[in-house]
Amino acid sequence: MQNPRLARHEHEMENRQLKIKQFFYGGNNLGYLLHTGTCALAIDGGAVDGILSFVRKNGLTLAQVTNTHGHGDHTTGTRQLAKASGAVHLDHHRFANGHTIDLDGEMVTVRLTPGHTPDSVIFAADNFLVTGDTLFNGTVGNCFSGDLKAFYRSILLLMGYPGTTRIYAGHDYVVASLAFARHLTPGNGAIDAYAARYDKNHVVSTLVDELAVNPYLRFNDPEIISLLESKGLPTDTEYQRWEGIMSIE
Ligand SMILES: [Fe+2]
Repeated sequence: MQNPRLARHEHEMENRQLKIKQFFYGGNNLGYLLHTGTCALAIDGGAVDGILSFVRKNGLTLAQVTNTHGHGDHTTGTRQLAKASGAVHLDHHRFANGHTIDLDGEMVTVRLTPGHTPDSVIFAADNFLVTGDTLFNGTVGNCFSGDLKAFYRSILLLMGYPGTTRIYAGHDYVVASLAFARHLTPGNGAIDAYAARYDKNHVVSTLVDELAVNPYLRFNDPEIISLLESKGLPTDTEYQRWEGIMSIE
């Protein structure tokens, strides 16, 4: 027999936690709904119908919609979603670094992470990050901004989060990324374990997984350094090693 007062307290506690729901759209795009059980924030809301249906079924209020960056496959559906739900569209270009979004008392922190594009941002909440096209599960985004130094700083910022942090990215590129990681670092036994954990219906990894497998976060690893040296690339500084791994096609 459970104390009903305690049971209610536990229920309330559970309701206060920020949850994340992943949506699939457009082939390999991933969008997200962060919610408290009552109030929701959509990030890259391309799965318009799926998001609206989830919101309805769970009695949520979609309060805000926003984006990880301005690429069309991420911003698609944003206005439609806002119009259909009455949610406020938070223009990601207007976020300052460290801006917090209040979701019914739960805080989501925005970090500016230029590199993939100049306007790329990530969202940090509880024990997870929504990383858009900055960091994927198994790889990183293309440096379309051309600013490799900014991208490096953004990646270092992400690497500084706790190892248990779950990484929710903007695309599912896991299969191809692991194949390329195997090609670059055939001696890395951690890739098989990562591949075994991959679930195409819920695409997520932890930062520890990424640090073990993702070649673009492993620029200080002896296997990567040997690879760069074998290609005649400079490896003296960490930035050179990052530049080197990003240059390999
Ligand atoms: Fe993109």
